[in-house]
Amino acid sequence: MTARDTRYEVLFEPVRMGPVIARNRFFQVPHCNGMGHLRPAALAEMRGVKAEGGWAVVCTEEVAFHWSNDLAPFAEGKLLDDHDLPAHQLMVERVHAHGALAGCELVHSGRTAANLEVREAPLGVAALPVEGTHPVQARAMSARDIADLRRWHRQGVERAMRAGYDLVYVYAGHSLATLQTFLSRRFNTRSDAYGGSLENRARLLREVLEDTLELTAGRVAVACRICVDERVGLGGLERGEIEELLGMLGELPDVWDFMVGDWDYDSLSSRFGEEGWQEPYVRGLKALTSKPVVGVGRFTSADTMVRMIRDGVLDLIGSARPSIADPFLPNKIRDGRWEDIRECIGCNICVASDWTVSSLRCTQNPTVGEEWRRGWHPERIRPKASDAKVLVVGAGPAGLEAAVSLGQRGFEVVLAEAAPRELGGRVALESRLPGLGAWIRVLDYRLAQLRRLRNVEIARGSVVDAAEVLRYDFDHVAVATGAHWRDDGVGRAALHPLPIEPALEVLTPDELLRGRLPAGERVVLYDDDHYYMGGALAELLASAGKRVALVTPEPLVSAWTVNTMEQRRIHARLEAVGVTITPSNVLTIAAADHVRFASVFSGRETTVPADALVLVTARLPAADLMTELERTDGGPRVQAIGDALAPGTIAQAVWDGHRYAEEVDDPAAPNRDLAPFRREVVALASPLTATG
Ligand SMILES: Cc1cc2nc3c(=O)[nH]c(=O)nc-3n(C[C@H](O)[C@H](O)[C@H](O)COP(=O)(O)O)c2cc1C
Ligand code: SF4
Repeated sequence: MTARDTRYEVLFEPVRMGPVIARNRFFQVPHCNGMGHLRPAALAEMRGVKAEGGWAVVCTEEVAFHWSNDLAPFAEGKLLDDHDLPAHQLMVERVHAHGALAGCELVHSGRTAANLEVREAPLGVAALPVEGTHPVQARAMSARDIADLRRWHRQGVERAMRAGYDLVYVYAGHSLATLQTFLSRRFNTRSDAYGGSLENRARLLREVLEDTLELTAGRVAVACRICVDERVGLGGLERGEIEELLGMLGELPDVWDFMVGDWDYDSLSSRFGEEGWQEPYVRGLKALTSKPVVGVGRFTSADTMVRMIRDGVLDLIGSARPSIADPFLPNKIRDGRWEDIRECIGCNICVASDWTVSSLRCTQNPTVGEEWRRGWHPERIRPKASDAKVLVVGAGPAGLEAAVSLGQRGFEVVLAEAAPRELGGRVALESRLPGLGAWIRVLDYRLAQLRRLRNVEIARGSVVDAAEVLRYDFDHVAVATGAHWRDDGVGRAALHPLPIEPALEVLTPDELLRGRLPAGERVVLYDDDHYYMGGALAELLASAGKRVALVTPEPLVSAWTVNTMEQRRIHARLEAVGVTITPSNVLTIAAADHVRFASVFSGRETTVPADALVLVTARLPAADLMTELERTDGGPRVQAIGDALAPGTIAQAVWDGHRYAEEVDDPAAPNRDLAPFRREVVALASPLTATG
C-alpha cells in the first residue's frame, strides 16, 4: 500500500452493521447483470473480482425466494429451494476469498412479475395489471397469502444463511418489490389491516423485518432497502411519510439502504443527472436512526464520497455502476492511484444487459461479464508470448483500448492517429453532444494509461496507407479507423439508397459533430438508428435555433434507449426544446424543399417542408486501409476492430479493442471453429467441458 492521502482515510474506516463489520465504507449495492440464475459461475467470478478490488460488501442482485414470483425472461437471482444453494455458495465463497462480506437481496416482486414461465396468477397488494404491457393481472393478496409470503421470506432467509451470506435484505424499493407496494398509497388501496393509515401500510414491512431479525438472531446482518421518495408527491411515498416510518421502524434493521424513485431514476444516466443527485432526498434521514445508512448516486469522486460521510448524509458509499466500471475503485482510492480509475460514464449500457438478458457489459470496463467465460480481469492481463510489434491505426475507443491493453501486455506498439492533435475519435466528438460530457472519460482513462506506457508510441497526424504500413516491420496491424455515417438513407427501413434531390442540403451526424450546422431554419431529422444519436442531434439543432422535425420508423423516439431507461426522458427533453416528433413513418422521397414520409402501418403519405435533411440511419466502416492491406501478399497479420469491423456502440468498440489485445498472439484465435469462451449450462451435462 502506498502512502494514503489522509483526506480519504475516513472512507476506510470500518463500519459495524449489527453482528458484522464492513472493513471500509465501500458497499456494492444489489445490481442485476444479465447472468443471474442462468450463468452462476460467471456471476460468482464477477462478484469475486469486486471483493478483490476492495469493496467491503458485495451484494447479489434481486433474488426471488419463492417460485410463484417469476421474472422470466429476465436473468435475475433465484433462491427457491436447496437446488439453488450451490450457485449462491459459489458466489459467497468468491466474495469471502477476498475478505468482503456477501449480501443477498431477497425479493418478492409481486405485480412486477408477470409469471410468464410458471403461469400462476401473480400475487399483488391489489388486483392490478402487472408492470409493462403483458396481458396479465395480479390478484389481491388475501390474509392467507400474506401469511404465506411471510413464511416464504423466512424460508428464503434461512436458505441465504445456509448459503453463507453475511447480510440479508428486506427489500422495499424501485416499485419492484411487494413490500414497497404495500407501503405506498400509490399501489395500496386495501381496506384491511394492511391498508389505509401508514401504520397499516407499513405492517407487512414491519412483520417481515421482525421475522427476519428473529430468524437471523444476530448471526447475520439485516439490511432494509427502501425507496425514500417515489417522486409522485403526496400520491406515493414522500419525505413526510418516510420520516414518520423511520420513527416507527428506524431501529429495526442493522443497516438502511436508501434509494429514490423507480429504477430509471435510481440509475439515472449522466445525460439526465449529475453525480450525487439523490442527496437532497436522503439528506437528514440518517439523523432519524442510529443505524448506519447506505445511499447511492453514481459516486466516482472520492471528494464527494468524503463529503457524504463528513456531512452526515451517509455512512456507507453505495455503488452499483461505479463498481461495474471499476471493480478496483476502493483499492485505487486507498492507494491514491487516481489516474487508474475507470470512472463510470453513466451511459447505462450495463442496464441494457439486464433488459436484453445478456451477460453484463460496460463501456469503461470491457472485462466485466468475461471474468469466468474468457478469463479476463480488469487489472491483470497475460504478459506477451512473443516479441511481435503491433501497429494500431486509429485512436478511437477500439484503437485506444487495444493500444493500452497491448502495451500492458508488454508489446511494442505504435498507435497512429490521423488527427493532428486530438485522440478519441468518436468519443471526443460525441462527448460534446448535449448531456454526454461524461463520456470523455473513455478517452481520459486510456490517455492516462498511455502516458505511462513507454512501449506505446503515439503518432499523431499520421495518415497511414498500405505502402506506409509495409515499410515497417510490424507483425500485426489492427485497423481501428472507425466508421462514417451514410448520406443515402440506407438503414433498417431502407435497404437501398433513397431518392434524395441534390438541391436539398443533406447532413450526416459526422458533419454536425464537426460543428457544421444546416444553413436553413427548417430541419428534418430522420432517425433510423434508434439509439442516442438522433435525439441528441435534434436537441443540439433545436438549441441552435432550428425548427426541428424528428421523424422515425419506430413508434418511439430513440427507441433502443428503453434499454438504458432514458427513452421517456429523451422524449420529454425534445418536447421541451420544441422538437416535433413524428413516429412510425419512413422516408420515401427528399425533394429540394420538402421531405415525404409514409406511415409504416397504412402507407399514408405526409409532406414535411424542409430546408435541410439530417440522416441518422446507418454507418459504413472506414475500410480503405483494411481493403488495401487485404490485397497485399505477405506482410503483417491484419485485423479490423471496433467500428472499422462493424459499427456499434462505444462499449462494443472498447470490448473489441480489448479482445484483440487479449487474442493477438493466441495461436487458437484465428481458428474460429470453436467458441473462444466457456459455456456453463453445457458444462453441467458434459464431462468434456466441466473443467472448472
Ligand atoms: C445494471 C443494474 C442492475 C440493477 N439491479 C438492481 C437490483 O437487482 N436490485 C436493486 O435493489 N437495485 C438494482 N439496481 C440499482 C442499484 O442498486 C443502484 O441503486 C443504482 O444503480 C444507483 O446506484 P449507482 O449510481 O451507484 O449505479 C441496479 C442498477 C444497475 C446499474
Ligand atoms: S456501462 Fe456505462 S453506466 Fe454502466 S457502469 Fe459502465 S460506464 Fe457506467
